[in-house]
Amino acid sequence: SGTAHKTDDGDLVVGGVPLADLVAEHNTPAYVLDEDDFRARARAFRDAFAGWDVYYAGKAFLCTAVARWIAEEGLCLDVCSAGELAVALRAGFDPARIGYHGNNKSVAELRRAVADGVGRIIVDSFQEVDRLAMITQDTGMSARVMVRVTAGVEAHTHEYIATAHEDQKFGFSITSGDAFEAVRRLGAAPGIELLGLHSHIGSQIFDSSGFEVAARRVLALHARVSDELGVTMPEMDLGGGFGIAYTTQDDPSDPAQLATEMGKIVEHECRALGVEEPRLSIEPGRAIVGPAMCTVYTVGTVKPVMLDAGAVRTYVSVDGGMSDNIRTALYDADYSCTLAARRSDAVPVLARVVGKHCEAGDIVVRDEFLPGDVAPGDLVAVPGTGAYCRSMASNYNHSLRPPVIAVRDGVARVVVRRETEDDLLATDVG
Ligand code: LLP
Repeated sequence: SGTAHKTDDGDLVVGGVPLADLVAEHNTPAYVLDEDDFRARARAFRDAFAGWDVYYAGKAFLCTAVARWIAEEGLCLDVCSAGELAVALRAGFDPARIGYHGNNKSVAELRRAVADGVGRIIVDSFQEVDRLAMITQDTGMSARVMVRVTAGVEAHTHEYIATAHEDQKFGFSITSGDAFEAVRRLGAAPGIELLGLHSHIGSQIFDSSGFEVAARRVLALHARVSDELGVTMPEMDLGGGFGIAYTTQDDPSDPAQLATEMGKIVEHECRALGVEEPRLSIEPGRAIVGPAMCTVYTVGTVKPVMLDAGAVRTYVSVDGGMSDNIRTALYDADYSCTLAARRSDAVPVLARVVGKHCEAGDIVVRDEFLPGDVAPGDLVAVPGTGAYCRSMASNYNHSLRPPVIAVRDGVARVVVRRETEDDLLATDVG
């Protein structure tokens, strides 16, 4: 995807940089981030959703370089932790253009967000309402907030990442009346500016009907608040979750089509409800960064294993694994891969790309056909690893988290360096 292409010699070139050259200098495993592709995807959302605000969801992947690109492309930023906020502020990101999420923000974290001038805090519980009221009263500062509501939509996605049905930890239920009550309390709290409602229905969603149903329900509450409380909320956020193609079987979301569909629903519902359209925003993460990064590994051990039916599966071990991509093990996610630095005409074999960790579930790519002569020293690239891979990476087995190397116009630049053994040992003070 993006600016990636393969030469006749089988060299994978991303952002004008042959991966073999990049590896010669920076070693493996490494995440390779295609800056032009990232920026193009950010712009595609910004342009398609003209008149809306687009908040890039930093949980998918964030570092100071990415925060700066996001600012330069005119997007806002969604953070969901004190750590992400710290990265954004270090990058010089305008705090007024940051939204702050989380179901369990501490008083200290909220105090800091208010003091830093965060543009909107997305409130997730009655206790958080009280904490914010206390902070604004104590300090005399004001807080701009949105109310995270649960629209009761079952998005068609993996159950661990569906968030809009009722039995989960996020948000205020619309059906129980909690959402209305939260709005009532926040609307009456001095020092609190209530911006609007926020709904996020899940992640890796392809069927836009989930967004439509959610938008209808949230707008109905928005109108009810205006009718019964006389409070006109100026904004509304419809969340992220737009799916990307991990394998060729999926159809990637098209920002222009999404914008048209979502815009139509909002316009239609607002007219039907007799309310003015609030200023809308969305929070795509995966759809911007996911396809813009790949991971490159070096092959170590290659082991053919006999299967019951007499077939053979070739286990191709690489120098990373579930510590740099937990998604296959955790969500049964589907990735593909390709040889990155040579051409082969060998007959393909059924391969499984696995990591180096002490765990049988340590699988990166469950099923892929690779050339039968795949051998130690080969480079393998896994595309589509931009979202929730580096950001969910761990030090399992005391492994070192890989660097993120940005490529553009033939130049490779480290934006997150590789961890060292000294980094690992630094926290061990016993
Ligand atoms: N807004 C809110 C409030 C969210 O909770 C999320 C994701 C997003 C926006 C961005 O969603 P996206 O456009 O990236 O789908 N670790 C899982 C995904 C967890 C998503 C959490 N919230 C995975 O690897 O699939």
